[in-house]
Amino acid sequence: MSAFIEKLKAAREDGAKNICAASDPQSLEAARAALFGRNGVFTALGKELGALPAEEKPAAGKSLNDAKRELSALLDETAAKIAGQGASTGEGIDLTLPGRRRRTGHKHPVSIVIDDCVAIFRRMGFIVAEGPEIETVFNNFDALNTPQDHPSRDPADTFYFEDGRLLRTQTSPVQIRVMEKQSPPVRIVAPGRCFRRDTPDATHSANFHQIEGLYVDKGVSMSDLKSVLLYFAKELMGPDVEIRLRPHFFPFTEPSVEYDFSCVMCAGKGCRVCKQSGWLEISGAGMVNPAVLRNVGYDPDEWSGFAFGMGIERIAMIRYRISDIRLLYENETRFLEQF
Ligand code: PHE
Repeated sequence: MSAFIEKLKAAREDGAKNICAASDPQSLEAARAALFGRNGVFTALGKELGALPAEEKPAAGKSLNDAKRELSALLDETAAKIAGQGASTGEGIDLTLPGRRRRTGHKHPVSIVIDDCVAIFRRMGFIVAEGPEIETVFNNFDALNTPQDHPSRDPADTFYFEDGRLLRTQTSPVQIRVMEKQSPPVRIVAPGRCFRRDTPDATHSANFHQIEGLYVDKGVSMSDLKSVLLYFAKELMGPDVEIRLRPHFFPFTEPSVEYDFSCVMCAGKGCRVCKQSGWLEISGAGMVNPAVLRNVGYDPDEWSGFAFGMGIERIAMIRYRISDIRLLYENETRFLEQF
């Protein structure tokens, strides 16, 4: 056997031993460099091959290539083995670790209440209408039969723009927009944001939400209003809830009422939340004033209707036992994540 082949045999055995002894990526890389690196044994053998006599070259070259191929395969095999061990020893990728939960967003309590209210009214055949938050004085007040000297028009209560328009103080102007555009019958609900110059406290916010309802048809009466509100109350708050209508005044309805839900905390017995009355005030409603119907070109002798409007935040506070309306607008995630 030539000296070259002997050297090659020794290098091959040593190399295989070193590769098999490697237990981590660093020692394996060292073993690879010692064989095939710039100063590696096989790199040197490659150079020696060139200096061999011509008749020895073919056999020696073949042996060299065989050895290289064998050791390369052994390197790959060992690398795979080390990576596999990492999975259970905590090195590399640990497939036994628990997954990382992705934090998903969710609906704001005000949106939840709006969606739930809309769903209930849709089951009664109401469709959703919308209007802009910036309104004309005509839609927000005049067409709704609001007297010129009504206190709600005062700039101390309502936000006006320099061009005379305003931030709507209620969702009732959507009634006007819908009736001006379409002829009766009409059956809509209009959820949306409203604005009033209120000093914020536990129950007041300068911006808040209402959901408006309007139903105009032939022969609509107060009992239709009452049955719709009762069905709504029971669907939203549970089958034991009762409602109560109290006489009230709004310029755009006649007769007008305020309506209450029986207190959901004490089932009407009287508690701190309902101030011992057994009732929770929800909002206003009434039969659409014939003057309003005339303002939009409806004949009040042919058509009659009812309208209602309720505060979304008020309902959310009752439903989720929230004691301060401002919590709904502070965007404190620890608060919002509870819903
Ligand atoms: N717009 C009234 C308010 O904001 C509520 C209401 C709506 C009353 C519809 C009667 C009919 O207080």
